[in-house]
Order: sequence, then structure tokens, then C-alpha cells
Amino acid sequence: MKSAYSSLPSVIAHRGSSGIAPENTLSSLHLAGQQGAKWVEIDVLLSAEGIPVIFHDDYLSRTTNGNGLIHKTFLRDLKKLDAGSWKAANFQQERIPTLLEAIVVIAEYGMGLNLELKPCEGLEEETVAASIAVLKKHWPPHLPLLLSSFSYYALISAKKLWPEISRGYNVSAIPGTWQERMAQLDCGGLHINQSFFNIEQVSAVKAAGYKVLAFTVNDKEIAQNLLSQGVDAIFTDYPTLLMD
Ligand code: G3P
Ligand code: CA
Repeated sequence: MKSAYSSLPSVIAHRGSSGIAPENTLSSLHLAGQQGAKWVEIDVLLSAEGIPVIFHDDYLSRTTNGNGLIHKTFLRDLKKLDAGSWKAANFQQERIPTLLEAIVVIAEYGMGLNLELKPCEGLEEETVAASIAVLKKHWPPHLPLLLSSFSYYALISAKKLWPEISRGYNVSAIPGTWQERMAQLDCGGLHINQSFFNIEQVSAVKAAGYKVLAFTVNDKEIAQNLLSQGVDAIFTDYPTLLMD
């Protein structure tokens, strides 16, 4: 299977078009598609009964009117929550989407997907297995698909369960062991926090044959600088940042 990195665009819509619409919702995916984003990045974890849902935090309180841990909450209760009002009043109907619901919208626009595996601690293998089961059944094979994670164990599971799908290793700062980790996990790209790397490190990672992706870049000038210095792609909450 062709590596997703071979069709990597220079701009990826982070949590959808999350600067304007509430992150990780169907509205943020529709908006990214309408704005012409080529790829979206979204986060996946499990509901209490083990259904993959699109959400960033372990806790519900920052982006919904609920409380408590998402992985202790059943889908029927997650679906009652308002996942949009925190962003703007006109998004109050927004609900936490399942992975399947997100796939339908992403595919409607023909976008590529970087699915970040964001398991709650201890649920790495379950989260990856459940997400891969949905993807195997519903992801259109002609569209690019990249799995990424900060979690070593999640990436090990992804490699075991669906080795032919490209993997990216998410890090804050580049660890001293990056070469060993990239080889163990058989990742094609290192996804790094933009605040914590310099251009020499980018050159070293690229010289080793890996793609370099930087998150999260919402400033046009910084985005242009990073791309001109060899960064292959940026994650941004504003996918139109470099479109003019
Ligand atoms: O996948 C890149 C980026 O999304 C990782 O950080 O916290 O936004 O999920 P975070
Ligand atoms: Ca993410």
C-alpha cells in the first residue's frame, strides 16, 4: 500500500477547522472541507462501552457541558452533551462525533485523514483495535490515511494490527532516542511541537529519511518560515492560513 506520506499536503487542518468551529466536531470537519483543506487531523479515544469517538481530552469539561472522564461515559450520555457552546453560541447543537460519523464527512470532501490515537492510559491496545476495526470497514481505501500517537504502546499496537498503514510519532521535544524509536515503530514521520525544535534537528531527521511535521502553527509567517526551512507540513487550526 502507498505511504500516506507520499501525498502529504503542506497544511493539515488541526482538529478540523478548529479556529472557527469547535474542535473535533462534524462542523469543524465540514468547514475544513468547505475551505479546501486537503487533510484533517482529529483525535480518537473510547467511550465507556468501547466505541471510538472523536475527542481530545480525557475529561469532558473543557469542550462540553459535561463532567468526568470520557472513557467512563457511555455513548448515549456523550450524545446528550453540548460540544459546541464553549466555542460560540451558534454551535450549541454540536455533538461529540463517533469515528464512523467523522469518516463519513471527511470522505464526502475527499480529504485525507491523520487520526491521532489518544488512548486513556491503560487502554492503548483496546483503543487502537477498536479504531482500526472501524477504519478497516469504513475508510475509503483510495484516500490517504495516517495513524499517529504520542503513545509508544498505541503505535506498537497499530504496527501489529495494521502494519501497512503509515504511522507518525508525535513528540513534544525531540527525544534523544528518536532514531531508535522511529525504527522500532517503523514510522514515516516525526510530528513535533513547533516550540521545541530547531532547524538543525529538522535537517537531521530529514537526512535520516523521515518527514517532519510541526504542530500547532497558527501564525502565517512562522508557517512560511518552517516550510521554507524544510518542515514538510504544519498542523493549523486555520487551514486557510497559507491559501492566498
Ligand atoms: O497530532 C498533532 C497534534 O494534534 C498533537 O497535539 O495536543 O493538539 O493533540 P494535540
Ligand atoms: Ca491531536
